[in-house]
Amino acid sequence: MPMTTPPLEDLRQEVNQALGAHIASLPAGRLVDAMGYALLGSGKRLRPLLCMAACIDSGGARETALSPACAAEMIHSYSLAHDDLPCMDDDDERRGSPSLHKAFDEATALLAGDALQTLAFRTLADCPGVSDEVRVRMLKELSDAGGAAGMAGGQMLDLLCDDVATRDLAHLKNTQAMKTGALFRAALRLGLVSANRDIHLLDAFASSFGLAFQAADDLRDCLGEREVLGKPPGSDLRHNKLTWVSLIGIEEAQAALAKLRLSCKDELRHADFEPVLLAQVTQLALGTDDLLGIS
Ligand code: IPE
Ligand code: IPE
Ligand code: MG
Ligand code: MG
Ligand code: MG
Repeated sequence: MPMTTPPLEDLRQEVNQALGAHIASLPAGRLVDAMGYALLGSGKRLRPLLCMAACIDSGGARETALSPACAAEMIHSYSLAHDDLPCMDDDDERRGSPSLHKAFDEATALLAGDALQTLAFRTLADCPGVSDEVRVRMLKELSDAGGAAGMAGGQMLDLLCDDVATRDLAHLKNTQAMKTGALFRAALRLGLVSANRDIHLLDAFASSFGLAFQAADDLRDCLGEREVLGKPPGSDLRHNKLTWVSLIGIEEAQAALAKLRLSCKDELRHADFEPVLLAQVTQLALGTDDLLGIS
């Protein structure tokens, strides 16, 4: 365990600075303005924090995890920009501001998402302080997490949810594990691999965390208020999405979330290191919330 554990706020600032520097290194213009708008807004930075936390808690150096942390956030930001497009969730607001395609236009939002994705892989390829073997491992992890077997594949299932024969819990969990869980798992794996630890050490935690996080997001979309959500609620209902709420109702979704949250805490206890920062990020993401029925 490290001698001193940095507070999450320090790590978040470090990530924000590094993300800003990545954008500043690109040729100025409309596309890069749009990339900056998507990447540098008021996101919680949960994926970078999980990456840094996994690295530091498991004995690695925080500098090594910074590039993979930024890369995970770039993929996340691109996924949100595309998720909000009219052809997907058709949401005009995000994080309390116009969505990327509303602030710019649809074509620019598409291209900015594309360029954020390639920037993520470039950032990993340049990751300092690790061997080429580790770098390639990281590139594979993030490609898998963002691709057909991960986020993009999950987004496809999300859009096709009306066409499946059975809208059941197994299908819901699979969709959410792919669209949301895969990137969280990759962020944790990148943190572990940058600390030269077993890449699978936090997989069980990651799968509970991903499902819990999306269950909370589904509940908020149904119960939340615009000021807190940063966008009008009801997007999932409007699109007849398969969510925890549409499948099992509010109360059962709250109970499922409470159970998943306990599993997260349990699985963290099984780590062979003291998960100080990981516990803090879990608390930040899934802390007490009356609206979600978790205390
Ligand atoms: C929102 O993720 C998208 C989902 C996977 C549910 P976050 O809630 O982490 O988004 P930001 O980055 O903090 O806005
Ligand atoms: C998004 O899920 C998952 C992504 C991969 C972007 P949602 O569509 O529920 O996320 P929000 O509610 O728009 O943030
Ligand atoms: Mg969506
Ligand atoms: Mg959405
Ligand atoms: Mg949602």
